[in-house]
Amino acid sequence: MRPKVLVTREIPARPLKLLQEKAEVTINGEDREMTVEEIIAQLPQKIALLSMAGDPLSAKVLGTGKDLKIVANYAVGFNNIDLVAATRLKIAVTNTPEVLTDTTADLAFALILGVARKVAEADRFVRAGKWVGWKPGLFLGSDVHGKTLGIIGLGRIGTSMAQRALGFNMEILYTDVRPIDRSVEERYRAKYVSLKELLQSADFVTIHVALTPDTIHLIGREELRLMKSTAFLINASRGPVVNEKDLVEALKAGMIAGAGLDVFEEEPRVTPELIQMDNVLLLPHIGSATFETREKMALVAVNNIIAILRGETPPNILNPEIYSK
Ligand code: DGY
Repeated sequence: MRPKVLVTREIPARPLKLLQEKAEVTINGEDREMTVEEIIAQLPQKIALLSMAGDPLSAKVLGTGKDLKIVANYAVGFNNIDLVAATRLKIAVTNTPEVLTDTTADLAFALILGVARKVAEADRFVRAGKWVGWKPGLFLGSDVHGKTLGIIGLGRIGTSMAQRALGFNMEILYTDVRPIDRSVEERYRAKYVSLKELLQSADFVTIHVALTPDTIHLIGREELRLMKSTAFLINASRGPVVNEKDLVEALKAGMIAGAGLDVFEEEPRVTPELIQMDNVLLLPHIGSATFETREKMALVAVNNIIAILRGETPPNILNPEIYSK
């Protein structure tokens, strides 16, 4: 009998074909997320689950996968999966690191440029037929080049942001649980500072941390209060890292100049007040959304599943302890 695999959303054709050559694949062909009930109904007898970042894979859901050996998440973030439960159930969990690093940094940088130079607002203006001629004060924005970028989390994507910032001749500050290697700091001319100093000094604060119990609401009222009134907050990590309610209050009070957001606390819900604000650029969680990167992510996820089918350790395993005695 061929091993059975569940794929919760459409993935690029080539990696899907590769998977179909090795397994009997059930794929959600509908243009919507599977409900928890649907996943639970499908999970028995499946050896592998190729999941999306929005699939809430709790202990209860994972527990219904009696034959489940792997959850291959189609994302680098894996906060949607109860990793502790998966480990207890001896289910391997994998993600898709590396392949989306530069693509996500490109998007975060687009948020910086877009919000600083009012790109979306100006586009809306032209489309609305409001442009009647060149005007000296039309859509004046903020320079990006030569400004100070504060990077919260200098991991893979954070470092990729630093690389881009060098091209814009920006001063780079970063904060993390600990400083990185001195040679890497020198390569990116990045200075390690406290979160407080970063918030007080940066013109653009960009967040690149994983969502964990320690980073939920890392940026709230107190932190926003420390930022310059001319500064912008950029978030392309996970929504709950920022207290969205506090962010709305800070924007309303003019505490900061604007925000560029690709992620939200309760996706796909966006706090209605944000939608009314012209100094906020809002994107629907598309950090890794390019043809090239989505294909690579799918290939990584599929290869992790194939490794399990071959009885091998998946290359991107997040809980290798399932294999220890
Ligand atoms: C990721 O890979 O974590 C992206 O946010 C896609 O969900």
